[in-house]
Amino acid sequence: MELLKAIYQRRAVREFSDATVTPALVHDLLHAAAQAPSALNLQPWSFAVLHGRARLADYSRRAKRHLLATSAPTFGLDPRIDHYANPDANLFHGADTLVVICAKPGPFASVEDCFLAAQNLMLAAHGFGLGTCPVGFARAWFNRPEVKAELGIPPHHEPVLPITLGHPAQPPPAVPRHEPETVCWHWDA
Ligand SMILES: Cc1cc2nc3c(=O)[nH]c(=O)nc-3n(C[C@H](O)[C@H](O)[C@H](O)COP(=O)(O)O)c2cc1C
Repeated sequence: MELLKAIYQRRAVREFSDATVTPALVHDLLHAAAQAPSALNLQPWSFAVLHGRARLADYSRRAKRHLLATSAPTFGLDPRIDHYANPDANLFHGADTLVVICAKPGPFASVEDCFLAAQNLMLAAHGFGLGTCPVGFARAWFNRPEVKAELGIPPHHEPVLPITLGHPAQPPPAVPRHEPETVCWHWDA
């Protein structure tokens, strides 16, 4: 897929079909993610791959409980957090696969580097016809020490962005963007 087209057409996908993601696809996506630039080329990321709708439904229930117990001040800021008070609402939108990008400790910008890897992964997935959605609401739960221990995430790796992965049920609608705000443009001839 043409790069600019992919950048403009990628959308957060929140409805997935029953089709399943294969380990080979996830493998390819992790390699695409790892092509991201990183400070000093430290590549300070690791990936937790979690697959299975029942598994993700269980994580969603537990992560929502944590979210609702700890995020009271943000209620009302994002209408989705109220939506998640509904027991049937799935934080991972019914996807069958979740990749949690984790930042390894380092001297520079580990978390920022991970977000670059995340964008690579999402664009590559779009190129393969897959849908993704970053799920920031689940970040805090994945950072709980007991959850990291349960999943096998090393204690010093920090989950920074869970990203769902699946086959889109239908193409999501376009989401408008603001004009880029240019606060200065000093351009000598
Ligand atoms: C850091 C980050 C966290 C996000 N967290 C969530 C989330 O918890 N749940 C969700 O449904 N979407 C989440 N999103 C997706 C955004 O809502 C979405 O990217 C935005 O509305 C723009 O839509 P688009 O990606 O379709 O262009 C997140 C996006 C980012 C970058």
